[in-house]
Amino acid sequence: MSSSTARDRGSARVRPDRRAALVSATVGTVAAGMVLALATAASAGTTLATSAAEKGRYFGTAVAANKLSDSTYVGILNREFNMVTPENEMKWDATEPSQGQFTYTSADRIVSHAQANGMRVRGHALAWHSQQPGWAQNLSGSALRSAMVNHVTQVATHYKGKIHSWDVVNEAFADGGNGARRDSNLQRTGNDWIEVAFRAARTADPSAKLCYNDYNTDGQNAKSNAVYAMVSDFKARGVPIDCVGFQSHFNSASPVPGDYQANLQRFANLGLDVQITELDIEGSGTAQANSYATVVRACLAVSRCTGISVWGIRDTDSWRASGTPLLFDGNGNKKAAYTATLDALNSGTPIPTTPPPTTPPPTTPPPTTPPPGAGCTASLSLQTWTGGFVATVRVTAGSSGTNGWAATVTLPSGTAVTNAWNAQSSGTTGTVRFANVAYNGRLTAGQSTEFGFQGVGTPPAGTPSCTAS
Ligand code: G3I
Repeated sequence: MSSSTARDRGSARVRPDRRAALVSATVGTVAAGMVLALATAASAGTTLATSAAEKGRYFGTAVAANKLSDSTYVGILNREFNMVTPENEMKWDATEPSQGQFTYTSADRIVSHAQANGMRVRGHALAWHSQQPGWAQNLSGSALRSAMVNHVTQVATHYKGKIHSWDVVNEAFADGGNGARRDSNLQRTGNDWIEVAFRAARTADPSAKLCYNDYNTDGQNAKSNAVYAMVSDFKARGVPIDCVGFQSHFNSASPVPGDYQANLQRFANLGLDVQITELDIEGSGTAQANSYATVVRACLAVSRCTGISVWGIRDTDSWRASGTPLLFDGNGNKKAAYTATLDALNSGTPIPTTPPPTTPPPTTPPPTTPPPGAGCTASLSLQTWTGGFVATVRVTAGSSGTNGWAATVTLPSGTAVTNAWNAQSSGTTGTVRFANVAYNGRLTAGQSTEFGFQGVGTPPAGTPSCTAS
């Protein structure tokens, strides 16, 4: 028996997160001064799961079913993690190898292990252009659309009530600078395939959080801007989406971006949870450790960043094993990256005491300085790339407040609006009017709200006009 397994048995089956809860319950019974002292001591968790739980987050890992007979692997898994993601076992090729014939043996094994050990499960992935069974690769049009909806429905129904979060759609945007959808057989069934998948997943399992998941979206760039525009539009139109997953596969060519936290925050500001779903960072030693700490600190600084999952346990378990990107070496020993991750979890932001914002994005409190005159004003900020842009417009009420408002933006010739969120747009070219929607028309004096739109072509310049009613 390995030492890890013995240690696990020695912990009397108390999951780390439950141990944290036990400490909290205990301190609640002693005098107030003592509570403070014990609560401080309790924040020094000794495992990733314990420490993350003390900060109100989960800490997870990808798991391969065929490794659940490896005692070193299982020892680390049970000791350190409280969320698991099946690495390949829930994908379309694994769960529906022949059309209409569903096989859940390997995925069920992981779910059973998780449930038996007090861990939760991230489902991965219901609809994806990759790892499709051959029969699906050969379908197109309405036959593929029907097959996709049936697959989402069947798999989400099989795991109904057992999944914390589903990656409903994975990697649907192209790399490069134009923010376009990735070409795939699914995309060719029509641009609405993503929202159709989300609606099917919600119907099948109303209790699971539904995520869009992608890579190279970790900082602000054309791809993440396009995802931002899509999920903003989903929120505005009531398409069921709860979270965005940031895969966070990093290496020297693609390091942790400087605006990582800001990017997580802007998605959280849409009223969505954000999750770090497949974290791995190639490298070694202090540099790798520092990068892991940076990622952890960023998540803890964003109250709606609800958890972090690494993409495997030991370096040798990784899909990128040669890059030694994980927290444990091939022998299962903790690396410097592990210590840095644990330390960052222990020194991070405590559990948020205020509930997270819900959509629509919160309006700002009235300023203490006198507001501008009656009516309203609008200002424009832009994120641009070659051939397109995302515009954010801030509308501020004048001294009378508003019951409703409309902002007008003049677009250059050849520019067109492709979608808008938190406002109702009229027209797509020339002078475009954006009126409030039901939830953001009423502003008190000096109060602000924001809406956005995405466009192709040259971005607009100047200040939008604003009228209040
Ligand atoms: O199971 C077969 C085995 O029978 C066969 O002998 C062997 C021969 O190559 O292949 C095995 O299957 C491999 C499978 O992993 C299980 O190890 C596939 O070839 C291999 O392509 C597959 O790779 C997976 C990859 O997704 C496929 O796209 C990786 O394990 C998995 O870590 C990786 O995960 C993805 C996420 O789902 C989405 N985000 C990116 C991430 C990394 O690509």
